Amino acid sequence: MAKLLVTGANGQLGRAVIRHLLETVQVPAADIVAASRDTSKLADLAALGIEARKADFTDEAGLEAAFTGVERVLIISTDELAVPGARLQQHSNAVNAAKKAGVSHVLYTSMPNPDKSLVSFAPDHLGTEEAIKASGLSYTILRNAWYHDNYLMSMPHNLEGGKWFTATGEGKVANISRDDCARAAAAALANPPAGNQTLTLTGSQSLNADQIAAIVSKAAGKPLDVVQVNGEQLAAGMAAAGLPDFVVRMLASADANVAAGNFDLVTGDFKALTGRDPQSLQAFFEESRAALVG
Ligand SMILES: NC(=O)c1ccc[n+]([C@@H]2O[C@H](COP(=O)([O-])OP(=O)(O)OC[C@H]3O[C@@H](n4cnc5c(N)ncnc54)[C@H](OP(=O)(O)O)[C@@H]3O)[C@@H](O)[C@H]2O)c1
Repeated sequence: MAKLLVTGANGQLGRAVIRHLLETVQVPAADIVAASRDTSKLADLAALGIEARKADFTDEAGLEAAFTGVERVLIISTDELAVPGARLQQHSNAVNAAKKAGVSHVLYTSMPNPDKSLVSFAPDHLGTEEAIKASGLSYTILRNAWYHDNYLMSMPHNLEGGKWFTATGEGKVANISRDDCARAAAAALANPPAGNQTLTLTGSQSLNADQIAAIVSKAAGKPLDVVQVNGEQLAAGMAAAGLPDFVVRMLASADANVAAGNFDLVTGDFKALTGRDPQSLQAFFEESRAALVG
C-alpha cells in the first residue's frame, strides 16, 4: 500500500485527519506516517502502529528525509503568522522537499479565494498554491473555509456582555467545522480526485452576522446583539483589549473580507469528497454548548 504522510500531525487538524484516516477511510496504521516538529508528542499515534517522523518546515533538508519513501503528502499550513513572509517560506520548503523526495502527489490546506482575499495572510496561501503549481507535482488544493470552531474563541466572551462587535456588515460566510475539513482531507489523501484539483470546502449555508448571532444565542440560551462597527473601530477595540498587532490585523482583515463578500461561497466539494453533508453551524454549537457558555 502507498504510504500517506500528514504534516503538522500534532496540531488539531492534523490529529483529526489521522483519526479520520484510521476510522472513517480505514487506512491501515502501517500505511500512515505522522510528521511533526516534535515526534515525542506523537507517542500515542506510534502506539497504534503509525510511523512518526520529524518534520519542521524551517528545515528543508530534514523535510526531504521525512518525505522519502512516501507516496502522498498532506501539507498542513502552519500557524506562523507573526513574522511576515515566514510562513510562505516554510510552505515553499515543504513543496521543494516533496519534489526532491519524489513524492507523487501533494495536498495542501489553503483558504477560499486567496487571489482576491483581504485577509492579512492570504498572500501566504496564494504563494503556496503558486509554488505547488510551479513545482510540476500532481496536487489537490483544499481551500478550507473559516472554521465553525473559530467562534469558540470569541463567542463565550461576547455572550458574557451580550454584544458582538463586528465589522462584517451584511457580508456572509459559509463556515465549516475543523473536523469536516479533516474528514475531507483524509478522504482526499487516501483517494485523491483525478488530475490537479483546487477544491473549496465550505458549509452548506452562507450566513450574515445576524443569522450567526441568532444561532449562537439559541444554542447558548442567552441573548446576543450584533453591534456593527467599522474596521478602524473594531481594530481599536481589539488593540485596547491587548491583542498583539498581527492578531488585530488578521481579525480585522477577516471581517473586511466577509464584508466584501469573499467568504460568501457555498460549494459541493465537501460532499463530493466525503459523500455526506457538512455539519451545520447550529449542530456544531449544540454539540459545543459547554464551550460556548463555559
Ligand atoms: N480555516 C480556518 O478557520 C483556520 C483556523 C485556524 C487555523 N487554520 C490553518 O490551518 C492549520 C491547521 O489548523 P489547526 O486548527 O490544526 O491549528 P493548530 O492546532 O494551531 O496547529 C498549528 C499547526 O501548525 C503546524 N506547524 C507550526 N509550525 C510548524 C513548522 N515550523 N513546521 C511544520 N509544521 C508547523 C503544527 O504542527 P506540529 O505542532 O505537529 O509540528 C500544527 O499542525 C493552521 O496551522 C492554520 O494554518 C485555519
